Amino acid sequence: MTQDQSEKAKRIPVSSHVLYADYSKSSKTLVKGKGVYVYDVEGNQYLDAIGGVGVVNVGHGIPEIVDAIADQAGRLAFSYSGNSENEPRHNLAEILNAWAPHGMRETKTLFCSGGAEANEAALKLAYQYHWERGNRSKRKIVGRWQSYHGNTVGALSMSGRTSWRRMHDPYLLSFPHIPPPYCYRCPWKLSYPECGMECTRELRRVICQEGAENVAAFIAEPVIGTSLSAVVPPPEYYRSIREICDEFDVLFIADEVMSGIGRTGLNWGIEHWQVVPDIITTAKGIAGGYAALGATILCEKVWRAIADGSGKPMHSYTYGGNPLSCAAGVAVLRYIEENKLISRVAQMGDKLLLRLHATLDDLSCVGDIRGKGFFLGIEIVADKKSKAPFPPEWDVTHLIESGALKNGLFILGGVTGLIDGVGGDHIELLPPFIIEDQHIDFIARTLRHTLETVISGRSDGNRS
Ligand SMILES: Cc1ncc(COP(=O)(O)O)c(C=O)c1O
Repeated sequence: MTQDQSEKAKRIPVSSHVLYADYSKSSKTLVKGKGVYVYDVEGNQYLDAIGGVGVVNVGHGIPEIVDAIADQAGRLAFSYSGNSENEPRHNLAEILNAWAPHGMRETKTLFCSGGAEANEAALKLAYQYHWERGNRSKRKIVGRWQSYHGNTVGALSMSGRTSWRRMHDPYLLSFPHIPPPYCYRCPWKLSYPECGMECTRELRRVICQEGAENVAAFIAEPVIGTSLSAVVPPPEYYRSIREICDEFDVLFIADEVMSGIGRTGLNWGIEHWQVVPDIITTAKGIAGGYAALGATILCEKVWRAIADGSGKPMHSYTYGGNPLSCAAGVAVLRYIEENKLISRVAQMGDKLLLRLHATLDDLSCVGDIRGKGFFLGIEIVADKKSKAPFPPEWDVTHLIESGALKNGLFILGGVTGLIDGVGGDHIELLPPFIIEDQHIDFIARTLRHTLETVISGRSDGNRS
């Protein structure tokens, strides 16, 4: 860390009563969004190439969506889902049933306000599924290292992001984790397909080690998000995972908080592997940033065990299924359907990926470019051949992120430490589904300029 950075880290602005996430970063005050652009209080325009944080999929300021929310606010802003139904919640659950992977219908959905809440609900309902069937020791959830499922205690216990777990470790539940299918840095130093997918065998080993009678579920982000920047597992990976889960009566939870709602070019990321999960959790793009909304979608096997057992899912939230957030969700999903935005993501995502390869592959710091649809990541390395990372104290990820911002581009710096919890830098691109060719040009050009200036030690690239 430079002296300047460490000084900034110590400086807590007294002018604000907000508790910020990172005092070493100076954040822009944004006041307006339109389409793919956001504007700060000084009138500067930025291309939002991360859709907020994988949230803004249909774009900022869409009049139909704003009108639908205003209309609902005028009719009924809140009703308690514990004692009444509301139309937006009913309609949203119907749409999600229609969007669910074919083998998963008939679904039932529990609503909440975000990703961690959705995963917390999945954890408890997975246990309840086994509990109702008399298997009351099946409590553990197997997660993967370098994964992220949210910051509440249950969700963080399932997560494998070591840098965020470390401080709170004493509070975390003792859940096992297996290595991710991270072929670029395979922990066994093997290559696909000769590897025989050692990474899935690890799930079998861990279930046996814990005792299948103690394992409730396996949770995975189908395309691995903020901890590994858009790692896409090999073609047979999830088929093999599904078979192992079935063999041991272990539920498969697909965490589609980031990869769901069309971001990878299909409704759900897991559909690229033609595998049907038992539970899907989603949030972020479901209401496109217009409201806080999340969902835990149960397949029939799971909800029926509860319905035919105690008859009462033992989980709820005050704001879960509130009419205002659900109206935003309905309006966003209808907008995506009417404008055929998911097939657009598949087509334009390929274009963006090709363009990134063409523009960045020759840079010595670009180790890997990966992802699906509009869920893309770039791994930054000090040495392309050995894949050695930059020293963590250089904080390269954040230098790139702030360099891009100075050049008018919002990108997402991944959490440093993707290799071993300490070292490794990566950035993510999660643009709104409506970006055009000229935006792809701007993203690729600006990234190249930023990487060249930052890596050569000049992190103050000028606006292009
Ligand atoms: C895959 C995944 N799951 C869960 C979460 C947690 O979502 P939230 O921040 O809405 O609680 C995130 C957030 O980035 C995520 O990427």
